[in-house]
Order: sequence, then C-alpha cells, then structure tokens
Amino acid sequence: MSESTIESILQEKRLFAPPAEFAENAQIKSLEDYRSLYDRAAADPQKFWAELAEQELHWFQKWDTVLDWQPPFAKWFVGGKINISYNCLDRHLTTWRKNKAALIWEGEPGDSRTLTYAQLHREVCQMANVIKELGVKKGDRVGIYMPMIPEAAIAMLACARIGAPHTVIFGGFSAEALKDRLQDAEAKLVITADGGWRKDAIVPLKEQVDKALANNAVPSASNVLVVKRTGQKIQMQPGRDHWWHDLQAGASGDCPAEPMDSEDMLFILYTSGTTGKPKGVVHTTGGYNLYTHVTTKWTFDLKDTDVYWCTADVGWITGHSYIVYGPLSNGATSLMYEGAPRPSNPGCIWDVVEKYGVTIFYTAPTAIRAFIKMGEHLPKARDLSSLRILGTVGEPINPEAWMWYREIIGQQRCPIVDTWWQTETGGFMIAPFPGATPTKPGSATMPFPGILADVVDMEGNPVGDNEGGYLAIKHPWPSMMRTVYNNPDRFRKTYWEPIPPKDGQHFYFAGDGARRDEDGYFWVMGRVDDVINVSGHRLGTMEIESALVSHPAVAEAAVVGKPDDLKGEAIAAFVILENNYSSSEDLEKELKQHVVNEIGALARPADIRFSEDLPKTRSGKIMRRLLRNLAAGQDIAGDTSTLQDRSVLDKLREG
Ligand code: WT7
Repeated sequence: MSESTIESILQEKRLFAPPAEFAENAQIKSLEDYRSLYDRAAADPQKFWAELAEQELHWFQKWDTVLDWQPPFAKWFVGGKINISYNCLDRHLTTWRKNKAALIWEGEPGDSRTLTYAQLHREVCQMANVIKELGVKKGDRVGIYMPMIPEAAIAMLACARIGAPHTVIFGGFSAEALKDRLQDAEAKLVITADGGWRKDAIVPLKEQVDKALANNAVPSASNVLVVKRTGQKIQMQPGRDHWWHDLQAGASGDCPAEPMDSEDMLFILYTSGTTGKPKGVVHTTGGYNLYTHVTTKWTFDLKDTDVYWCTADVGWITGHSYIVYGPLSNGATSLMYEGAPRPSNPGCIWDVVEKYGVTIFYTAPTAIRAFIKMGEHLPKARDLSSLRILGTVGEPINPEAWMWYREIIGQQRCPIVDTWWQTETGGFMIAPFPGATPTKPGSATMPFPGILADVVDMEGNPVGDNEGGYLAIKHPWPSMMRTVYNNPDRFRKTYWEPIPPKDGQHFYFAGDGARRDEDGYFWVMGRVDDVINVSGHRLGTMEIESALVSHPAVAEAAVVGKPDDLKGEAIAAFVILENNYSSSEDLEKELKQHVVNEIGALARPADIRFSEDLPKTRSGKIMRRLLRNLAAGQDIAGDTSTLQDRSVLDKLREG
C-alpha cells in the first residue's frame, strides 16, 4: 500500500450503519444479534458448527467426532459421509428450486445461457459419466484449465460428484505454469476448451495445454477433454484428445453422487508463497461445504429472490467458494460472466447488472479503481436499482474507492461487505453482516462467528488497540486448509511455526499485518512477507525471480512490489546481467516477455532496472526494504548500517 493510503486508513473515522429497512429484513438484524451469535460460537465452536452441519447440509451418514485436532492437523466431522455436488444439486431437485436458475451465464460476445438446477444436474451427471469412461477414478486428480463458461463449474461439480479432486488452473497462467501444477498434482485428465474470449480476443487454451503436455512432460495425464467454445482451429491428438460434445451425446444424465468421507480431498488449489514453487493448498469435503455454505448465506444475507454475481474467475479460491460451491449449496442463482471491461464495451459490467437485475455484486478493489477511472457516466447511464449488497475482496480497499463504490454504485443504499480471507482459509474470516454491522471504509470489520481472530506479536502476545501486529487465528475452523499437497512439513513451517505455540495455544499465521481499533474492528494492512498483491492476484517475489534467472542473460534478480494506483501493487525487478550481456530496451522487453512465458501475463514486471550490484547485508541477504524504497521513488528509510557496500544504493538511484 502507498503511504497516502495507509495514512488515510489510519485516519478513517466514518461509520455507516445498515439502513433500518435493510436490517429489519435481514437474517442477522443487529449488532447485538451478531455479538450473541459470536459469543455463543466462541464459547463452544464444535457445538456451533455441529448444529449448523446438521441443519444446513445433507449427510449420507452422520459423523462420529466433530473435530479431531492434532495441531496443526485438523479433521472435521470425522466418520461423516457427504457429497458436495449432491448438496449443490440433487437436494434442490425435490423442491421448487428444481426449475430455478442455478447458473446464469453471459458470454463476452453477447451470447448467454441459463441452466436451471435440473439442467445443471443433468450436465454434471453427463460429464461425471464421461470422465469415468476416460478412466478417472475416486481419488484421481483432474486438471481444469477453462474460460469462464458454465462447463468450468460443470467440470468442478462432476469431479466432486465422483470423488476426483480437481485442481483448477487460472486460464491466464502460461503453459509452463500449467505444466508445473499438473505435474505436482499428477493429474490424470485435463479438462479445457479450444479457447476463451478475453477483451475481444481469443485466449488459446488448448494450444497451451498441448505445450504443457508436450514430450510427455506430464506422464500421468493420459486424456484431454475439450469443450468447444470459440471454434477456432486446434490440433486434436488422436487417442488423447476428446471433444466434450461428442462424448456428451452418448452420456447418461444420471450418475449417483459418491458418498465421500468428510475428510476426503475435494480440491487442490495452487497459490504463491514466499519460497520456491507455488504450493498446493488442500481442501477437504465436509467442513469446506459447511463453511462456504454458511458464510455465503449470512454474509450476503442470501434470499431466494437474489441474483448473485461474483466477478472472480473460477481459477481462484473466490470462484471456487463464492461462484460455485457456496451459492449452489444454498440453492441460489449464481451469475457467471466471461468478459471484462474492454474498449468495445467499457460499461459491460453495468449492462450485465441491468440485464439480469443483479441484487448482490461482489468484486475486487482493483476493479473498483478501474471503474472509477473509466468514469461514473458508465454506471450512471444504467439502471442499477436492483442492487442491494456490494462486496469487495482481494486486498485492502482504499477509503476513496470504498466511498465511490458506496455512492456511485450503491447509491448510498447498499451495505458494503469487505471480506478478508485467503485461499488457505477457504471462506470469509473477517467480514460484516450487512444488516447488523456498521461499516467503516477500509475495515473488514469483525470476525465471522466461530473464528477466533487476533492481532498478536511474533511471540503470540496480543497487541494493544490500534497497535500494529500480525493477524492470527486461534482456533481451527471447518474450511481451513488441511495441508500443502504432498508436503505437510511446508504446511507446518509456513502457517504454524512463525508464531510458536504457547501454553497449548496454536496460532495460524496469515502472513498479513493488521491492527484492531477501540471498537474491535480489524484493519488489514497487507502482506508482511515476500508476497505481492497485483490486482488482487497473489505472487511470490521468489517465483518471479526464478523466472528471471532462468533467462540466459540474467545472473541475479531481486523483485519487489511498488505502489500502483490501479493495481494496488506493481512488480519492480532489479537485474544483474551475465558478463557477456549488456542492458538495452530490447533486452528489457525480452525479459518481461520471458516472465510472461514462465508464469503468465499477471506476472509481467512493470519495470526492470539493470544494475551491477544489489544492496546486501554483510551476510549476503538482499535488503528488499531498500529496494522497495527505490522502486517507489522514496527516500531510503530506516537503518542501513548492516549494508555491505553503501555505494550500491547511490549507483542504483542514479541508474
Ligand atoms: C491475501 C490472500 C481471498 C480471496 C482473494 C485473495 C489479501 C484478501 C482482503 C481484504 C485486505 C485482503 C490478504 C490475504 N486480502 N482479502 N478484504 N482486505 N486484504 O486470496 O490470493 O489467497 O490472497 O489477499 O493479503 O492474505 P489469496
């Protein structure tokens, strides 16, 4: 975050109470209601979750033990049998919701589709039967690399239905990044599309899959299922590649949901950390189903008449929990949009809100800042009166953007829910209840019932009101990540050891800095580790550095985030070249493209500075803090006494 953003958040004093009429009709109607719910949950979290699990979900068989906690490994609803695809589909078919819209989809070129629960159920069953035919068994991993089309959700639900954990890889990742993830997960099947529409152009997804699988790089992957979306020419490898529409034609629309163990793996989702390659975050079935269900229901005050739209991509956790599983488990209508604002239609977002009468709209601060820049004439020219709740996620929201969202989009009528959570947490951890919690611009407010959040120092001691510290969670919750795929050690080290356990108390370390104010409101300040947040996308600096040094011209690289008005943070790279190379604009371009090829366009460095040396400590550690100052064009702040060679800084500044 920029200094001015931090400054404005520190001075933020405005408070917005939920409108009285909204509160009256809400599920949780007042701050007192929230507090009593919170206190009841905190007093006995297991009882709280067990009651909800019983009330809200269908179980083939009830659990024996609510929580088995062997820190840091948790198991929820042990012995229970459940299927999330059943909870998202089948159970609605015996109610009036059978013919309710489950998915409303709008394609970028203007095509659209609506699937009722009955129709969605049928297609999920067909795909489940097809992937079984392709040799996928319970426990086998399936890679999903898709555009934002209904078949992306269908593929996820089909995998869940037969107990094959999915790993969705965001369509913006490069072939190289796709390959890494498919290899790590040892995916047996890849589900993709010929291409997808993105800003008036085609993203060649199948071509990327071909590159990722070339030379038998992913030996486990024996089949590729291809959905026809864009219709451009692609290569189909006989024996390996299959068109979905061909196989769907002969597939039965009936496929019973497999009763899964509550703790069976539901999916792996890769996310960036501070070291090495992205880690596979593992989520399991029962607890994840429960937590995403309840958070969707209460935080969005869900009603059967809602048209709910989350603008995320299914390639991220937000798409998993709050486009697919949470909304469908509740029998809600979830809208999926393939496109993004583009020169040919900058007002497309508001067109979609008007066209479908969207009532709940959930997006990211970076998108809101882009909307501000595009101009308020765009939303003002559309009828947005259907909206009743606005949501935000992905990074701290600057109060200016929050106020614009409230005034221009919400017309001062819609409560804003700022939801703090992570890939690892599975669902919302800190967020207001729209009918109960007065909101403050820039604060995610207070923890969800059952979540024991705190701001502590590195020894686990709570810090005082308005003092900075680390965000930590002090009790396991149903949708917490279970482990890093194939790497329980990394799970322990990354999340449970930074703040060592004390007197039997364990601390989940989120990696975020935060403070809590005198009203108990949490203010998340951003990452405290070497993770940068570019447009709400999480990237590890090490990951980008590895990509840079894999280029023959690069001897050493250091990457830091620098403040960016639109993206929150942008990527700044410092590069030392090998002896036989010299810096040039062409080489700068080439290195940026190299990072795009290695990771994806989301990781393209905003600027690259060539240098002969980097500021290091006497023990050889790069002093990133100083590089951050330099990248932001600020004066060097803080202590530089451990710096090995002071002249490096002067040279970098001049360069
Ligand atoms: C990191 C998690 C959770 C879905 C999207 C990102 C930052 C997320 C907020 C928020 C302040 C936020 C944190 C967090 N973050 N939401 N409302 N306020 N910061 O998921 O890629 O796992 O990233 O995003 O820094 O640690 P993710």
